[in-house]
Amino acid sequence: MSSNRTLMILPGDGVGPEVVSETLRVVDWLAKNKTVSFNIKEGLVGGASYDKYGTPLTDETLADSMDADAILFGSVGGPKYDGVDFENRPENGLLRLRKEMDLFANLRPAMVFPSLVDASSLKPDIISGLDILILRELTGGIYFAQPRGIEEISDGIKKGYDTNLYTTPEIERIGRVAFDLAKARNGKVTSVEKANVMMSGVLWREVMTKLHKEEGVGIDMHHMYADNCAMQLVKEPKQFDVIVTDNLFGDILSDCAAMLTGSLGMLPSASLGSVDKVTGKRFALYEPVHGSAPDIAGKGLANPLAELLSFSMMLRYSFDMKDEADLIDKAVSQALDAGPRTADIMAEGREKVGTKGMMDIVIRKLEELTN
Ligand code: IPM
Ligand code: MG
Repeated sequence: MSSNRTLMILPGDGVGPEVVSETLRVVDWLAKNKTVSFNIKEGLVGGASYDKYGTPLTDETLADSMDADAILFGSVGGPKYDGVDFENRPENGLLRLRKEMDLFANLRPAMVFPSLVDASSLKPDIISGLDILILRELTGGIYFAQPRGIEEISDGIKKGYDTNLYTTPEIERIGRVAFDLAKARNGKVTSVEKANVMMSGVLWREVMTKLHKEEGVGIDMHHMYADNCAMQLVKEPKQFDVIVTDNLFGDILSDCAAMLTGSLGMLPSASLGSVDKVTGKRFALYEPVHGSAPDIAGKGLANPLAELLSFSMMLRYSFDMKDEADLIDKAVSQALDAGPRTADIMAEGREKVGTKGMMDIVIRKLEELTN
């Protein structure tokens, strides 16, 4: 079926290809049952691209990605590439996509599904009903700023250094996204930095405070140091609604928030650019928060739900298909209630299933919910 929506599929490495191909079964299901169809293009990224082309992202794949309406990404990396020179590391394929498409806003929701409360390492009353969103700045800060390098200072002694740098507009644009997201949620924003130690943090707090005064009517805004935020996330995570923070703190805090929910295998993310004023188009990449999980790759064991929930975020944010996204989220929730589970979210008395088995249950739930 031809469609005016084009999806770029970048399965990548490790468990990426497995969870992406299972997710595509739901894309097919939507085409058959809801007449929502996509043109699908596929490309290589990360180690898979390096193996074939000697680079983790070719210009052609980047161009195809930019032409598409949205990208569904798997994961990149693995021990096989440990010896590869820094520039060609699999991770650089992903970092280049983020940078070239200016995907500055990374949404990482952490919510606890009722039937997974016991999968968390935290006590049930701390995390049950948890629904928070980490908004990570994704194209600035220490991941990209210059200068950075490794240089010899004197005989045999080197220095390795990176720069954390943010400009006013970079902070303002992520701050605005935080306010918009909070408005559609519980209206609370916690802005996280280390203004007690870092100059980039001092500016971050200054800009967020001003932005809040000027554009944050109705938003309950708080400032918090990043170290305290890490502690509060495990102590009392439900105090948060939207956490907005820089690239590095967001990387760390989102892994921490992810684990509150019991499994990294459940968490989706969306990386969004700004809306083009002329064409109305917004670049967007959707990927699970989990990595390539080399230890279980190729075995059909990985939990495909984070990838599927990433696709559901795509329907919501890129295609305005709220009903279809709600349907998928509901099917996932019911599939978790139903019985069998993948190893990462196993509970006593449940049957264990693999990647395909888990998706079979979701698809069965989709059938039930629509019949
Ligand atoms: C993430 C990952 C990436 C990052 C890696 C794979 C480059 O950890 O998306 O959180 O550090 O941003
Ligand atoms: Mg990370």
